[in-house]
Amino acid sequence: MSTVSFEHVKKNYGDVKVIHDFSLEINDGDFVSFLGPSGCGKTTCLRMVSGLETNTSGIIKIDNSIVSDPDNKVILAPEKRKVGMVFQSYAVWPHMNVFDNVAYPLKVAKTPSSELNDRVNEILKIVELDGYEKRMPDALSGGQQQRVALARGLVAQPKVLLLDEPLSNLDAKLREKMRGDIRKIQQDFGITCIYVTHDQIEAFTMSDKIVIMNAGNIIQQGTPEEIRNNPVDDFVADFIAPPESL
Ligand SMILES: Nc1ncnc2c1ncn2[C@@H]1O[C@H](COP(=O)(O)OP(=O)(O)O)[C@@H](O)[C@H]1O
Ligand SMILES: [Mg+2]
Repeated sequence: MSTVSFEHVKKNYGDVKVIHDFSLEINDGDFVSFLGPSGCGKTTCLRMVSGLETNTSGIIKIDNSIVSDPDNKVILAPEKRKVGMVFQSYAVWPHMNVFDNVAYPLKVAKTPSSELNDRVNEILKIVELDGYEKRMPDALSGGQQQRVALARGLVAQPKVLLLDEPLSNLDAKLREKMRGDIRKIQQDFGITCIYVTHDQIEAFTMSDKIVIMNAGNIIQQGTPEEIRNNPVDDFVADFIAPPESL
């Protein structure tokens, strides 16, 4: 069973074709990275799953039901898609404390307050922020803010968690630790993740599957091992070459 599928998805901005013919099946519980150079269309593909962008044509499904099929006028609103999102910029609200930031998606969904409290407390433990409920974001480190964003992305128990370069603003040491933390949380939850990155180390250390993109196309997909052992062309071989051999 696949959790997310793209079927011949295309995206144009005006006359500019940004995604050409994107077809991909993402299996339940997999951690899949979209890896490619800046501008290749990774964020666009992620945002089309969330509903923040709409594909120009083609079909997107989550859990085998259609969330976007513009040719047949089916376009589900983002809040109906059961996805969580985590961005590079954290997007943590500065005027809300940690608890309220994390509780926000549950409030929007009108979750009863006792259940809301339980769920927020549970997720704060998982991201190791229990005890920080009353802290304001400006009194948190970058890594802690990113954990708040992660907790907020997970708290409503989404079917898919979408992460867009979530570690790019962190220093190298923290980035390394958070790679392991995100992967562990993903495995504990068994949640399907799509992880956008231009950093091959992140993609190769975290993913079940990597989708290598260039200029709006999928160039290769496979496990890290498959891609490392059999890059399909020079673009992939160059892109995944270890830095010291460049
Ligand atoms: N709102 C927009 N309007 C016009 N062009 C856009 C818009 N958003 C993205 N693009 C273009 O689409 C291409 C893919 O962008 P993006 O998906 O952000 O790439 P990536 O995340 O891989 O860096 C880029 O050429 C970018 O300039
Ligand atoms: Mg991007």
